[in-house]
Amino acid sequence: MKRILVYLLAALVLSLQSCVDNKEQEVTLSAPDIYKISNLKASSFTADWTSVVNAQSYELNLATDENFSNLVAPYESVVTKDDFYTFEELANGQTFYLRVKAQLKEKTSTFSNSKSVTTLEADGVEPDTPLKDVATTFRVGMATIVNRLNGSHDEIYRREYNQISAEWEMKMNIMYPEQGRYDFTLADQLVEYAQNNGMEVHGHALIWHAATPSWVENFEGTDEEFSNMVEDYIKTTVTRYKGKVVSWDVVNEAIDDAGGNYRNTVFLERMGENYIQKCFEWAREADPDCLLFYNDYNLCWDKTKLNGVISKIVDNFQTNNVPLDGVGFQMHISYNGPSKSAIAENTKMITDKGLLMHFSELDVKINPDNDLTSSTEEREFAQKDKVREVVEVYNAIPESSKFALTIWGLKDNESWIPSVQGHDDWPLLYDKDFVIKKAHTGFLEGLQE
Ligand code: XIL
Repeated sequence: MKRILVYLLAALVLSLQSCVDNKEQEVTLSAPDIYKISNLKASSFTADWTSVVNAQSYELNLATDENFSNLVAPYESVVTKDDFYTFEELANGQTFYLRVKAQLKEKTSTFSNSKSVTTLEADGVEPDTPLKDVATTFRVGMATIVNRLNGSHDEIYRREYNQISAEWEMKMNIMYPEQGRYDFTLADQLVEYAQNNGMEVHGHALIWHAATPSWVENFEGTDEEFSNMVEDYIKTTVTRYKGKVVSWDVVNEAIDDAGGNYRNTVFLERMGENYIQKCFEWAREADPDCLLFYNDYNLCWDKTKLNGVISKIVDNFQTNNVPLDGVGFQMHISYNGPSKSAIAENTKMITDKGLLMHFSELDVKINPDNDLTSSTEEREFAQKDKVREVVEVYNAIPESSKFALTIWGLKDNESWIPSVQGHDDWPLLYDKDFVIKKAHTGFLEGLQE
């Protein structure tokens, strides 16, 4: 009797067991769905997926490619009983692919959706998104010199910008160093570089009092001969680069700071107030398709000076049918000013005239008062905000007035600012080691709608 009972019990256990086994074989496991990525950081993130009925555990794969052929150690095949998992110690700023399947003993479901996740850049590392890729409605320009068209400069130029200006090699003292002898060696090299790399060239600048060769300052000849000489210079230069230089700053800084009158220069003395007009007409004759700009500083905040430019150049030209396509605001500004609203107001005064607007020489001082001996995080944030504001203002102008926003140099230690203000500063978007600064991120943020 006892033996029979044992047999019966054993038979019961066995049949129950086979029942369970059969049930397990019948069970189909549906695939989980990864529905949430959270706590995304530079080296970690958490994934959540839908829990699957009957699943005992889940197996996860993390890879660096969509086909899951490059699995990431130690997450080649992680098993967990939970319906979430936190991956840690991952590479910064890298894209990973994640998939998961449900398990019940030997049985597994098919894989879930594959989810891609990009970890954040490490703290202090700014995104390297190219400015020109994000600025889709205007050019992003860079000022450079010929001996910086190689190495890391060249690589960054090609990645970030689609227009270049010559920082000083397309000015009169370089292109016309002696009477009767032009020297376009450096200008040619710059233009050739731009052409080879699909960038536009903004010609800067035909007439500028601070880059006038001494033989012109001390011109030996009559006023008429002087005027003929300037005409020949403008026509020779603009003709040479016809079709290659899309735009020129024809005259730079011709209005003074004390009330917006004509700046006293050798051109004003020799040719009279009409010299600006003549220069624009000669440039237009030489290249009917080239865009012609008047460029000056402080215009983004100094209303008196801007009114001088508007009355003496913009309105005067528009009334008298003198060619003028746009105005350049140099944008040599500081972390603490001018305000966004001042920049926007003054910009509108130009765009309301139906002209193109060039923010032409952007740099943002963070040490205008010489109270720093090295850059600080606080000022770098303030600089970033100011760059963002400038880009926001530019991005908001009417499409028909958009032209380019040009940054005046690549990296801090190459900026003209320290030498002109007589003490150190860090006014650009890259530091001396080619590291992207917060200001660069400010530019990107300014483009977000
Ligand atoms: C500056 C350059 O940055 C220097 O390298 C050069 O020695 C002098 O000129 N306004 C202008 C620019 O229009 O041409 C000036 O560039 C800066 C002020």
